[in-house]
Amino acid sequence: MEETQNEINNNKNEDRFLFLPITSKETLELCLNYNSNINSILFLSSYPKSGTTWLQCIVYQLLSYGNELFEHISYISPFYEINKTWFDLNYYNKYHENHLKLGYDIFNTHLRWNMLPKGNNIKNIYIYRNGRDVVYSFFQHLSNQADSGTYNGTFEEFYNDWLNSNIPYGSWIKHLKTWIEAAQDPANNILLLRYEDLKLNLLQSIEKISNFLNCNYTIQQLEEVILPHCTFDYMKSHKHQYEPISVGWKPGFEFIRKGQIGDSDCIFNEHYRQLFDQMIVKEFPEGLPIWLQDYI
Ligand code: A3P
Repeated sequence: MEETQNEINNNKNEDRFLFLPITSKETLELCLNYNSNINSILFLSSYPKSGTTWLQCIVYQLLSYGNELFEHISYISPFYEINKTWFDLNYYNKYHENHLKLGYDIFNTHLRWNMLPKGNNIKNIYIYRNGRDVVYSFFQHLSNQADSGTYNGTFEEFYNDWLNSNIPYGSWIKHLKTWIEAAQDPANNILLLRYEDLKLNLLQSIEKISNFLNCNYTIQQLEEVILPHCTFDYMKSHKHQYEPISVGWKPGFEFIRKGQIGDSDCIFNEHYRQLFDQMIVKEFPEGLPIWLQDYI
């Protein structure tokens, strides 16, 4: 199988999109053309470190009426663009069985909107998070990954690489842009969520997701049956069900790490902030779109 690891460019040199070594070109082709003749498809999408695992947890809790007795979330909503999801038959059998029970082929993905299949039977939930917290969380993640793909530099070096799309999944701001612009068309069936809104009012966000999935819960049921299994503390104490198993971790690292708004404030100095603002202005030279105005 051919390894992509490096560049899948979007025909524009300034828009690099790197992949992890566990994604091949062949897999990306399959990702673009997938369809299911049995189930509806549900993509849980994000730029890395934006609350993807949290979203997977909430969705599974909603679809299973709060089931706690499952082995691991990756057997419920596998990582769409990794080779294992497509070529490991034992793995496929395990998650496919769950998909049949749940009535959805659910996947988590960091692909952009244009890299995914489209269709009436496809729903998408896109979660996004403040870019400064994202890059800091991403640095913690890649620096603590124990096998291939470990980042060995300082935060300053990482930040520089991130701003220049030299880190897997490319530009954060372009990622948000493709999804948020696509969500303006209701036919695309995309629910947009912000990590910060989940933090500030988890019940309200769970209700939004429940409605999007046409689940029939009362607010009281959401509060009593679903919400308690979706809190940071609960997920941290059940990390064996949530910590990714596709990679190894350095001793002591907690994937469900801090889960805070503004965690990057501890490292973001004035210079880093200026670089961040310049990156945004470069993407939107004619002014910020409405969705960014109250967010940056
Ligand atoms: P931090 O590294 O800032 O703590 P992803 O799943 O997309 O990789 O995102 C991981 C981030 O989401 C981590 O952020 C992790 O701690 C946070 N997270 C996971 N579960 C959470 C929860 N229930 N509440 C708040 N944050 C959560």
